[in-house]
Amino acid sequence: MATDDNTYTNDNIDTEIQMDPNLVLDVRGLKTNFYTYEGVVKALDGVTVQVKRGDTLALVGETGCGKSVTAKSIMRLVDSPGKIEAGEVLFMDENEQGERTPIDLLKVSEDVMRKIRGNKIAIVFQDPATYPNPVFKIGDQIAEVISLHQDLSLEILQDKIAEMEDALKVAEGETADEIASRLDELQAQLSNPPRPTSTEIKNAARRKAVEMLNMVRMPSAAEIANQYPHELSGGMRQRALIAMSLSCNPKILIADEATTALDVTVQAQVLKLLNDLKADLDASIIIITHDLGVVAETCTQVAVMYAGVVVEYTNTEELFSDPIHPYTEGLLRAIPKLTEKVGKLTQIMGTVPNLINPPTGCRFHPRCEFATEHCQNERPPREEIKPGHWIECWHPQGSQAGRKK
Ligand SMILES: Nc1ncnc2c1ncn2[C@@H]1O[C@H](COP(=O)(O)OP(=O)(O)OP(=O)(O)O)[C@@H](O)[C@H]1O
Ligand SMILES: [Mg+2]
Repeated sequence: MATDDNTYTNDNIDTEIQMDPNLVLDVRGLKTNFYTYEGVVKALDGVTVQVKRGDTLALVGETGCGKSVTAKSIMRLVDSPGKIEAGEVLFMDENEQGERTPIDLLKVSEDVMRKIRGNKIAIVFQDPATYPNPVFKIGDQIAEVISLHQDLSLEILQDKIAEMEDALKVAEGETADEIASRLDELQAQLSNPPRPTSTEIKNAARRKAVEMLNMVRMPSAAEIANQYPHELSGGMRQRALIAMSLSCNPKILIADEATTALDVTVQAQVLKLLNDLKADLDASIIIITHDLGVVAETCTQVAVMYAGVVVEYTNTEELFSDPIHPYTEGLLRAIPKLTEKVGKLTQIMGTVPNLINPPTGCRFHPRCEFATEHCQNERPPREEIKPGHWIECWHPQGSQAGRKK
């Protein structure tokens, strides 16, 4: 049977996947466990969260609530004894022609996933002390990423043209015929350039690496490129890492900040930098932090996590003006204010539970001042309590306090 030229078939496309075209990432009901000798750690218990194109999403919550495991599960980087048990991680893939197709990252082959990790979704890990690789110069490491992921043909051609400018100069005593034949030779070289040599690729990538360091506002970028990671301060190393992650032109950048590894000032600077760069990057960003204060100026959406569950998800302004989940309220009360005496700082009572035996029903109930028997017995469903404002709670507070059951 004759095929129509316009017929577009691709066996790899799962036509079943429905995804909002405004989203780049749609994580649904993600469950991840760790099978340890002590028992099964139920680290993620149905995490649902979305990232819109161009958004900066903050994933916040106390230590141990599942932020890093969420990032690793999205990237399919959960190591043994961990296992992703359920859920979907839908990613809006885009080809060079700009055609967009949703794929489920939990279902694609490891080969496809490796390409996604290298090209489309990048992660900056939380411990800059062990990464970038300590034995290679910063510039060489970034250049390596660039030569793997970027088309350097234009840069290489520019280098060649610069070389040729010298060759174009007329030598003393050269005849018109000699000049003409030399020009013919040069023209032939330009119209049919030989494959770039590894040195040419290396030089072009190295120059671009310095450009990337400049882009992340690294002072004396050319000098930094020649240094080793240990010669840089923590904040500078973080910047170098970001330059490296951005060198593959990702659609999503995940920045997993450590609770302890960087101080809050450095963290705030890094977040501000990412925010400034966003317009040029055409990328969406996921910022992982324990500090709600830090996200206020830099993030468009916030997902508040508690014990492996996203308990509240909405835009940043709404979260700060009308927090509804009691845990979010607690986190907001715990932000230190410069105007208040330290003694006034309120902490949420209790600690994040051990996730081998997590609390029944709502996992936050043992720490919640509004908890009832209902909270102990049944997990609250995920509910859109106001447009774009989602919670998991039987006793919504804030402007919804009247809805108590
Ligand atoms: N390799 C592992 N083996 C067993 N349990 C793990 C492992 N990695 C994480 N967990 C558990 O999963 C839960 C979530 O951990 P996760 O590292 O995601 O927390 P986090 O929110 O990133 O905390 P932090 O702010 O300290 O980075 C914790 O209970 C943790 O103990
Ligand atoms: Mg973490």
